[in-house]
Amino acid sequence: MSDLDHEEDLAKTKLDRRMANRMVSLLLPVLPRVIFVILVELILVCSVIARPWFLREVIDHGLVPHGHGWTLDVPIVLYAMIGLTAVWIVRFGLGGLGQYLSGTISLLVLKDLRLRVFSHVQALSVRYFDRTKAGRIIARADRDVDSLEPAVINGPPEFLGMLLRTVGAGWLLYITSAHLFWLVFPLFPALALAMAIFQKAGSRVWSHVAEAKSRVTAHLCETISGVRVIQQQGHEAKNLENYRHLLLQLDHTSIHGSWAWGWFGPYSSLLFIIGMSLLTVKGGIELTSGQITAGQLAQALFYITIFLGPLQELGDLYEKLATAAAAAQRIFLLLDTPIEISDVQDAMTLKTANGTIEFDHVTFSYDKASPVVIHDLQLLIPAGQVLAIVGSTGHGKSTLVQLLTRFYEPQTGKITLDGHDINSLTQESLRRQVAVVLQDNILFSGTILDNLRLAKPQAEDGELISAIEALGADEVLTRLPAGYKTLVGAGGSNLSHGQRQLVCLVRAYLADPRVLVLDEATSSVDVHTEQRLQKALRHLCIGRTAIIIAHRLATIRDADRIVVIEHGRLIEDGTHAALLAAHGKYSALYQANENEQG
Ligand SMILES: Nc1ncnc2c1ncn2[C@@H]1O[C@H](COP(=O)(O)OP(=O)(O)O)[C@@H](O)[C@H]1O
Ligand SMILES: [Mg+2]
Repeated sequence: MSDLDHEEDLAKTKLDRRMANRMVSLLLPVLPRVIFVILVELILVCSVIARPWFLREVIDHGLVPHGHGWTLDVPIVLYAMIGLTAVWIVRFGLGGLGQYLSGTISLLVLKDLRLRVFSHVQALSVRYFDRTKAGRIIARADRDVDSLEPAVINGPPEFLGMLLRTVGAGWLLYITSAHLFWLVFPLFPALALAMAIFQKAGSRVWSHVAEAKSRVTAHLCETISGVRVIQQQGHEAKNLENYRHLLLQLDHTSIHGSWAWGWFGPYSSLLFIIGMSLLTVKGGIELTSGQITAGQLAQALFYITIFLGPLQELGDLYEKLATAAAAAQRIFLLLDTPIEISDVQDAMTLKTANGTIEFDHVTFSYDKASPVVIHDLQLLIPAGQVLAIVGSTGHGKSTLVQLLTRFYEPQTGKITLDGHDINSLTQESLRRQVAVVLQDNILFSGTILDNLRLAKPQAEDGELISAIEALGADEVLTRLPAGYKTLVGAGGSNLSHGQRQLVCLVRAYLADPRVLVLDEATSSVDVHTEQRLQKALRHLCIGRTAIIIAHRLATIRDADRIVVIEHGRLIEDGTHAALLAAHGKYSALYQANENEQG
């Protein structure tokens, strides 16, 4: 499946090829500046097409035949020189102003677009990230926006300037000599025809090139985030080969593109040369027969250069616009991707919950095509209960947590918090009430204290440190090189797994949620640390509903209640003692665990 097909599928909409409207809509917020740029461009064009007129004045009236030579009509030449100088000054000043204005327009437009893309990506549901490679998203949010830049900065004024120069010079050429105008006019239909043909080939080619580039980026991102595994498995050579293959594909599509497009430049140059030749020959004939003056011919030659000049710039500009259109398509598709899980219209903000949770006949699968993970699950957790969920790996325990925090929605049944369907609450208030500590958590760059402050932005250092001490995490964390001020590397890589875990537990403690979920949260700290944490965790659970998923069963023995999940179904429910006595799945798991711990 190609990149664009994949995106179309995710966005559940076909690619809208009427890009121009949406590109123009990006310019709406800076409309006054755009109008100003157009005015500046108009004056610039007037200054360009005024020059040939001065030239003709000098040739026809400034040079006066005198005997065998010429004399200068000084006032006329002076007046033409002053005129030309004025025109140059205007051009110089306005040219700079125009560049400055269009530069600021593009910065504003692209900054807005970047922010829109970023906030949309951030809001997209986790399912989108399950299905899309990080590199593809980065390629869109970053490089595709960059590819719009040449088109947004130079594109519109260049195009406008070209159009105005062609129309203005064409009109003046017509006035100067109508039959010379009609002589070169057929070049324009010839150009339009070529443009139509190249346009068809071009738009497809540029979107293939953009796609090939985004595959290269995606592979790079995946390699960087998985570099340990790649090195561990000695997979470097094969991985390099895959990268080479992607680069070859990129080369291939780019070469194909340049090959098709390469003809446009020479073709339009050819039209230009034909136009100039026709005019020179015909003009020469008319000059000798006295139909036009030398000044008029010079003026006409100037106009024709201005008139046909755009032919040569067009190829370049066209390529910029085509690349930009391909990039814009990809960005708009990303922006069109619906946010699957969003707050309902009159979503309720739950201030403080009691913490009663109910899974009411919940059935869920991650995808239509994939197997059902949770089967008609019925589970009521009263407020304040400490509930342990046990079961073998892959049987749906973490999925229950994902559903409770509404990262995914069940296909049937509902989940309630204090009797409110969680779909009727704002996601923000739901997630504020339900804090989750996972087995492997990401820390952000900054110090340990900065990371803790995410849970409580206004907290003083002292408050954060008391929380660390309250959970008994101080002994481990103070041993870090710079104590609590230790800088956390990318993703938390310079901390041990256990240290990262401790930081996340303290963070959850600071957030003071009504419902606390620990999904294998202490699985990666050593038994000694875990035992010390137990006391703190018990302290952490007081006064709130707690759901603890653990595979070291010794740690959940004192839970108020234990449920066993198998193949997404609840198969046992009771206290530690009751379940042991029942000699069922729990008892078997517990025995196996005991033997393992020795
Ligand atoms: N994001 C996901 N997309 C698709 N399938 C998933 C996803 N996460 C988990 N699964 C599947 O759901 C099943 C249950 O996984 P999980 O709830 O993580 O199990 P547990 O936490 O009990 O080990 C597994 O078969 C797993 O392959
Ligand atoms: Mg799990």
